[in-house]
Amino acid sequence: MAKVSSERKPLIIGNWKMNGMSATSRALTRELMQALHNHDACEVVLCPPFTALTQVRELISGTNMRLGGQNGFPADKGAFTGEVSMAMLRDVGCDYVLVGHSERRQHLAEDDGFIARKVFAASGHGLTPVLCVGESREVRLAGESERFVLRQVETGLSMLPHGASFVVAYEPVWAIGTGLAATTHDANAMLSSVRAWLCEKRGILAPNFNLLYGGSVDSSNITDFIAQSDIDGALVGGASLNAQAFAAVVLGAARGHTCTNK
Ligand code: 13P
Repeated sequence: MAKVSSERKPLIIGNWKMNGMSATSRALTRELMQALHNHDACEVVLCPPFTALTQVRELISGTNMRLGGQNGFPADKGAFTGEVSMAMLRDVGCDYVLVGHSERRQHLAEDDGFIARKVFAASGHGLTPVLCVGESREVRLAGESERFVLRQVETGLSMLPHGASFVVAYEPVWAIGTGLAATTHDANAMLSSVRAWLCEKRGILAPNFNLLYGGSVDSSNITDFIAQSDIDGALVGGASLNAQAFAAVVLGAARGHTCTNK
């Protein structure tokens, strides 16, 4: 089942992870703005660390770029030392928030139930949650990838209010930061299953959501990913830390979109 809308722009999200001091975050943002010249063939979202959100927001305000948090806590305020709420992310100008990234599932033991609460909280504060899902190498080798990922999607979205917009980012754990991206065929097949599941089990159709691929995306593979029927964009880690490399990803995504006239 292919995506429906031909006029939707590819969504390209840069996840800087735990990288960037004030000066380097500002420099990266400025260089990216110069390289892209307020390019509007893609929706570009930057997810810097919390400490750089305000500085990046000030630089990109008035441009087409959007701001996203890398994580948020599912309570509005209170005694949760060290946490940042979805309301706070909205307050500093975020439109998006990553939820359930595999690095948080792995290093901080986040489970699907906790992630579902984050999706709910994000949506309640006007943020678009970017639910990250993806199987490990072991799960893939066991032939269980689709079942595993659809379960993550089902639980992760279980508290999402009807009609709310969201993003699902399929990031196979074995493809993150390894230089070994999934094949375009495998990534598209997984996102096609997610799209079909959303439609058949939840009655949700585009344009309420975008489906992204993530995992070793760079300028050499983005055009092919975007040209696939069920891939609406990309979640980019390493390549988003270099302005020229990230700009090349954005321009490559625009090319992939135009070539196939999706
Ligand atoms: P890489 O692009 O570095 O593989 O990271 C992907 C990722 O985890 C984005 O969230």
